[in-house]
Formats: sequence, C-alpha cells, structure tokens
Amino acid sequence: MTALGPVARGSCVAITVDGEEFVVWRGAGGALGSAPRWCPHLDWDLAEARVVGDELVCPGHGWSFTVAGRACKRNERGRPDDKGAIRTLVLGDAGEAAGVRVCGVAGAAPGPQGADHGVPPGGTAG
Ligand code: FES
Repeated sequence: MTALGPVARGSCVAITVDGEEFVVWRGAGGALGSAPRWCPHLDWDLAEARVVGDELVCPGHGWSFTVAGRACKRNERGRPDDKGAIRTLVLGDAGEAAGVRVCGVAGAAPGPQGADHGVPPGGTAG
C-alpha cells in the first residue's frame, strides 16, 4: 500500500505505484479520480491537466477522464464520445484533509508495446 498526502478539491497530483505512473485528482464534488499519468490519446502529461467539475481534462486535445474510470472526448456541442475504460487506482479516501491510501491498481495492464496506457480493445484513439 502506498500513502499519498491530502488531495484538495480541484487539484491533481502524480504518483508512481509499483513502477507505473498515475495521476490522482479530487473533483469539485469531493470524489477522487485516477488515471494513467500519460494520456491514452497522445501521451500528454496528465499531471498538467486541469480539473473541471469532477473530471480531469487533458490540455493536449481535450479528452476528459471521469472519476468512474472512463475516457471521453466531447464534440463542439459537448456530447461525450466514449473512448473506453482506463487503468485506475484503488483508493482509500479518509476525507479531503486526510491522506489518500493507494490500495492497488485496477484495469487491464498496458500493452507490450508501451504505447497503450490504459484504453483497452474497443476504446478508440481518434
Ligand atoms: S494527448 Fe491528451 S487529449 Fe490528446
């Protein structure tokens, strides 16, 4: 188990768990989310992403990541285009002022080429 310090609402922090890099954020509603650190679209560093509502939005091309572990891209009218499940962390949350515990990793392991950071078959890269 890995311990992470407090994660304030609207903030995003990077963490390495068993050699894999992730980001953890806390949404405006207080829920925690996690995602691979490197965007599954084109590898932007999600430690530079911003929290919008409860989602983390990649500064590269605007893909967003939900606290439920899904990636999506929104069209110009805001309609979400689901990009599939992402690899996430199993987190223990004792509240915003307390630390966060990382209890494990969930989701399919990255592909052997190293280019797939969490979007499984059925997810799209467009
Ligand atoms: S690199 Fe993240 S949306 Fe393109």
